[in-house]
Amino acid sequence: MTPHPRVARLLLLGAGGVVVVCVAVALGAVNPSATTRPSRLEKWAAHAILDAAVRARALRGRTAPADPASVERGREAYRQHCLVCHGVPGGEQSAIAAGLNPPVPDLAEPETQARTDGEIYFLLSGGVRLTGMPGFERSLPEKVRWELVGFLRALPKLGEGEIQALSGRR
Ligand code: HEC
Repeated sequence: MTPHPRVARLLLLGAGGVVVVCVAVALGAVNPSATTRPSRLEKWAAHAILDAAVRARALRGRTAPADPASVERGREAYRQHCLVCHGVPGGEQSAIAAGLNPPVPDLAEPETQARTDGEIYFLLSGGVRLTGMPGFERSLPEKVRWELVGFLRALPKLGEGEIQALSGRR
C-alpha cells in the first residue's frame, strides 16, 4: 500500500529532520560530556517519553512486600547495591553520583514515590538505557527485587537515626 502523498511528505520531512539533528550533534552542536547539564527541553522530552514507556510496560496489580523482615532484607540489598549512587534521603551525593548525567534521583522524592510498585520494579529490574542506572534482573533474584521495592517505599519514613545508620555515619 502506498501512503497518501501528504503523509509521504510528512514522513520525508520527519526523516530529514532526524538526519539534520544527527549531523548537528556529530558536528558538536551538543556537548556529550557528562559534566554538562541537559537543557530543560531535553530533560522534559526524555522524562515524558520514559515515563510513558514505563507506564505501558510495567506489571500491574502486584504490590511489594511490606512486612518488617522483607523490608529489612530490602534495606541490606539497598546498602549493597544502590547506596553508592542513590545515597540516603536528603543526603550528600557520592563522587560517583555527582559525576553521572542524567543525575541520580533521590528515591524518597515524590517523583519516584508517585510511581506504582510495578513501575519501580520494572525500572530497577531493567535499568534505564543510556543512563547510569543498571538493570538488576540478571544479578538479583526476583524476590530480592520486590524486597527492594518494599524498602524504597519505607525510604521517606526513615527517622534521622536510621538514615545515619544507612549512610554508615553512625
Ligand atoms: C551506578 C549508579 C546507580 C546505581 C548503583 C543504582 N542506580 Fe538507580 N538510578 C541511577 C540513575 C542515574 C538513575 C536516573 C535514570 C534516568 O535518568 O532515568 C536511576 C534511577 C533509578 C530509579 C527510577 C527513579 C525514577 O523515579 O525515575 C529507580 C527506581 C532506581 N534507580 C532504583 C535503584 C535501585 C533499587 C538500585 C539498587 C538495586 C539502584 N537504583 C542502583 C543510578 C544508579
